[in-house]
Amino acid sequence: MPSTFDPAVYGDHAVDIHDLLYPTVEVPDIVAFLRKRLADGARVVEFGAGTGRVAVPLAEHGYEVHGVDAAPTMLTALRAKDPAGLVQVHQADFTRDVVGTGFDLCLLANNTLLMMPTQDLQCTVLRRAAQHLCTDGLLVVEAYEPSSYHRLTGKHTQSSVLSSNKLLIDSIQNDPVTQTLHFLRTLVTDGRVLTFPEVSRYCWPAELDMMAKAEGFTLVERWGGWQESAFDRTSDTYLSVYRLTGPRPPSDH
Ligand SMILES: C[S@@+](CC[C@H](N)C(=O)[O-])C[C@H]1O[C@@H](n2cnc3c(N)ncnc32)[C@H](O)[C@@H]1O
Repeated sequence: MPSTFDPAVYGDHAVDIHDLLYPTVEVPDIVAFLRKRLADGARVVEFGAGTGRVAVPLAEHGYEVHGVDAAPTMLTALRAKDPAGLVQVHQADFTRDVVGTGFDLCLLANNTLLMMPTQDLQCTVLRRAAQHLCTDGLLVVEAYEPSSYHRLTGKHTQSSVLSSNKLLIDSIQNDPVTQTLHFLRTLVTDGRVLTFPEVSRYCWPAELDMMAKAEGFTLVERWGGWQESAFDRTSDTYLSVYRLTGPRPPSDH
């Protein structure tokens, strides 16, 4: 099933805002987390590698990193960060395409899975992840814990100061029936105002576990963040590590 994601629209909107919104300060924690679970020289595929925030530093540690992204502008930004070409870049749709097999780890960081607008499409992405992995390969998924969003009714606006010169204003509308958030994100930084629409279909931890199980994955670790904080009722993120324990699903092309 094709994604309703339009890479041209997303990439054009997001490329300016992405690295401002998602700070690189947490990247050492992400890389350290992944390194603890990878053998030297392991093969990693990142679905939605974006501007290479994680893929490039991971590749600098000697792993074979493949970055999949459908947005050409994001991949241009990635290549600019990676002059040595350490990351193998694939302009592809991870709901549909299999860019290689036998990977040790598949990464879905930064709520990328939740960009898929339906549960069905999210399951499809998990199936694609399984098709990329070796037996016992790992799938790491970072997602926000949706409880506070699920309670929202009507239109809601929230603002947060990201740093001394960055203010983020989110206008949010929730549809709790389809578990869909419609965001209009506005970033004010250095006298510039950048706006960016985003749609996110949220997913509960237990729901994700069932979806992953249906694709052959078993949950092996759950954390509240990359620093391995406990996942509890105060967590606003949940980090899941799954192992592919069931048979790899056949290609459905
Ligand atoms: C939220 S960004 C995350 C980027 C990166 N993983 C990070 O942590 O900085 C999600 C990325 O997924 C890409 N993406 C979304 N849907 C996609 C699809 N169906 N196929 C390929 N890339 C997709 C977007 O272009 C975007 O670059």
